[in-house]
Amino acid sequence: MTILITGGAGFIGSNFIQYMLRKHPEYRIVNVDKLTYAGNLENLEEVEDDPRYSFHEGDICDRPFIVELLHKYRIETLVNFAAESHVDRSIHGASEFVRTNIVGTNVLLEIAKEHKLKKFIQVSTDEVYGSLGAEGKFTETTPIHPNSPYAASKASADMLVLAYHHTFGLPVVITRCSNNYGPYQFPEKLIPLMIANALSDKPLPVYGDGMNVRDWIHVADHCTAIDAVLHHGAIGQVYNIGGNSERANLDLVKLILHHLAKPESLITFVKDRPGHDRRYAIDSSKIQKELGWKPQYSFEQGLKETIGWYQKHQSWWKRILSGEYQQYYKKMYEGR
Ligand code: NAD
Ligand code: DAU
Repeated sequence: MTILITGGAGFIGSNFIQYMLRKHPEYRIVNVDKLTYAGNLENLEEVEDDPRYSFHEGDICDRPFIVELLHKYRIETLVNFAAESHVDRSIHGASEFVRTNIVGTNVLLEIAKEHKLKKFIQVSTDEVYGSLGAEGKFTETTPIHPNSPYAASKASADMLVLAYHHTFGLPVVITRCSNNYGPYQFPEKLIPLMIANALSDKPLPVYGDGMNVRDWIHVADHCTAIDAVLHHGAIGQVYNIGGNSERANLDLVKLILHHLAKPESLITFVKDRPGHDRRYAIDSSKIQKELGWKPQYSFEQGLKETIGWYQKHQSWWKRILSGEYQQYYKKMYEGR
């Protein structure tokens, strides 16, 4: 099987590519990524010379470019990770979110329909469900109620994906996962940002009262879930994915400081995120029951390993913070 992966140079996409090449020696992976600020080919150094893998710089909104790749590699399966993914950036300006997350997904859907792809997996998020109070969890039948421009763009994409299934019979499946953490996460997201700041003895900016709750899952568990959905997911269905690890942001930040033996005085409360969703929690019993998937990581183990990874790979995130990582592509591919 040859799988077209979009957004494979980002955090989850690059973890997924490495996982799939390890898990399925007979598969080929074609990675399309626009290399925005969040795309980093250093994440894929380990596989860049693997003959089963190829990288193509490009935009999911660029129809002829995607069509050419479908023909060239005889693609029948597509997993769409490509997105603008950071809520805070969407609050500062939503245009790129609308362009990539909605228009880009629609371009891929049109192409998938015309070229009769056998499977279209849309990697979505629990944020489409909105915010929870103190009790309850999101199930697949929770009404869609996105609050941030990012969440609204992902919800719009989900609606388009389901509409292409309903109207044209396109073989789609949607996954909606909770907050990921693990290696190669861009250090603008909570966990890597806090680890990097703590390691540099910089203030740790906690939004609002720090009591917003997120439900964390290790990226490796997200990858196994997408693999399960890709092979066994029922067409037209949505599957929630979560790690059953709710934590208030403040408790999590304190835990990171504790692991790194840094003082809590580094914590700085800052202005809250506008429209900040209070709590997310995922009920993943459907994928567990129907596809036999289960997360393997406990949050304690996963966080410990992740902190260890960022300690060991300081040059990776320091190159990102300095902007130097964007030179990698040039250096690597010039003259090839
Ligand atoms: P990321 O920002 O790390 O990576 C996104 C990748 O998409 C980058 O490599 C970027 O260059 C690429 N990209 C952006 N616009 C593109 C375009 N127009 N054409 C081609 N490539 C483009 O994001 P991530 O955290 O890895 O998330 C991947 C997917 O998973 C996203 O769809 C996101 O909504 C979803 N998701 C993320 C989480 C999470 O906790 N990070 C949770 C659930 C779902
Ligand atoms: O739930 C899945 C979503 O999780 C994904 O769809 C998104 O792509 C991903 O970015 C993530 O969104 P969040 O907004 O939940 O993640 P973020 O890491 O930005 O923030 C996590 C929590 O930490 C949130 O309550 C805001 C808070 N926060 C974040 C940052 C960056 C802070 O308190 N301080 C910070 O500096």
